[in-house]
Amino acid sequence: MQALLSTEAVLVESYVGPGEERSLADDVLDGLTRPFKELPPKHFYDAAGAELFDRICELPEYYPTRAERAILEDRSAEIVAATGAAELVELGSGTAAKTRLLLTAMTEAGTLRRYVPVDVTEAMVLECADALVDEFPGLRVHGIVGDFERHLRHVPEPDGPRVVAFLGGTIGNFTPGSRRRFLRGLAKLLRPGVDHLLLGSDLVKDPAIIEAAYDDSAGVTAEFNRNVLRVINRELDADFDVDAFEHVAFFDREREWVEMRLRAQRRMDVEVRQLGLTVAFAPREELRTEISAKFTVDRLRGDLAAAGLELRDVLTDPDDLFALSLSSPR
Ligand SMILES: C[S@@+](CC[C@H](N)C(=O)[O-])C[C@H]1O[C@@H](n2cnc3c(N)ncnc32)[C@H](O)[C@@H]1O
Repeated sequence: MQALLSTEAVLVESYVGPGEERSLADDVLDGLTRPFKELPPKHFYDAAGAELFDRICELPEYYPTRAERAILEDRSAEIVAATGAAELVELGSGTAAKTRLLLTAMTEAGTLRRYVPVDVTEAMVLECADALVDEFPGLRVHGIVGDFERHLRHVPEPDGPRVVAFLGGTIGNFTPGSRRRFLRGLAKLLRPGVDHLLLGSDLVKDPAIIEAAYDDSAGVTAEFNRNVLRVINRELDADFDVDAFEHVAFFDREREWVEMRLRAQRRMDVEVRQLGLTVAFAPREELRTEISAKFTVDRLRGDLAAAGLELRDVLTDPDDLFALSLSSPR
């Protein structure tokens, strides 16, 4: 562990070393030597990737952010009243844009004590810690720069009734089995009878709406998708010809998830010099970079139950595009 910042109001700790940040090398070695090539989505988010994601959130086709924000605008006070939250732990906090609605409701209820953002991107945790203590006088921030799949044990002991927020539909990035395993780990952060999980999940809907959200007409999502190749080129001294990969996004109707892939437009041998690895791509071969599962209330209830959590309430936007659910340990 490395303490990155320590003042009266802010403590930021990092659990990702400079050399092994986000375990990129392990994931590239593992994912690019499989018969069907695959990389986990967490590697999109260097500074450029985070900026591209912010632009995606503003796109007319990308409904999840707007829908989730609409729910938080309408219902944050109700969420705070139902949970009595004094502490907000947020996984994959990013720029904490929507989080401010919850923090404001906690301030208005007079309960707000501490915010604990957890994100792999160091700059985002530092920037949002800094900004939030200015915006919310009296707030303490304990930031964790880490991987929410590996470092949840470093989340500090609770300081009052806790809400763990996992927003943006990021839960959909897990395959069904690992989703339940992840939720079981997450549930350990919650005390029965006191704490709650606030989970943002994108809902199953007309596939045309979903596909447009992942393949926008301005090509921002395509750039975001290809950014993972730029990250590998820079961090692992690789020579991907980034523009030779085509963005592919489709809704798998059977599994009810979106897949993003990168399709090689010709035969290529890519050198990943830091790993001493040559990766061969056949023409039109695809590399899967993200899945984003869509939910029904039954699927949500089943996944939560498998982690020992009981679904208490489901809040949706007026168009039923997105759901925020509240659950707590049984
Ligand atoms: C889709 S964005 C969502 C950001 C924000 N919560 C929202 O709702 O707009 C995902 C965020 O999770 C972070 N992230 C992705 N995988 C992660 C991981 N394994 N551990 C920690 N943070 C992760 C990214 O850096 C990014 O900030």
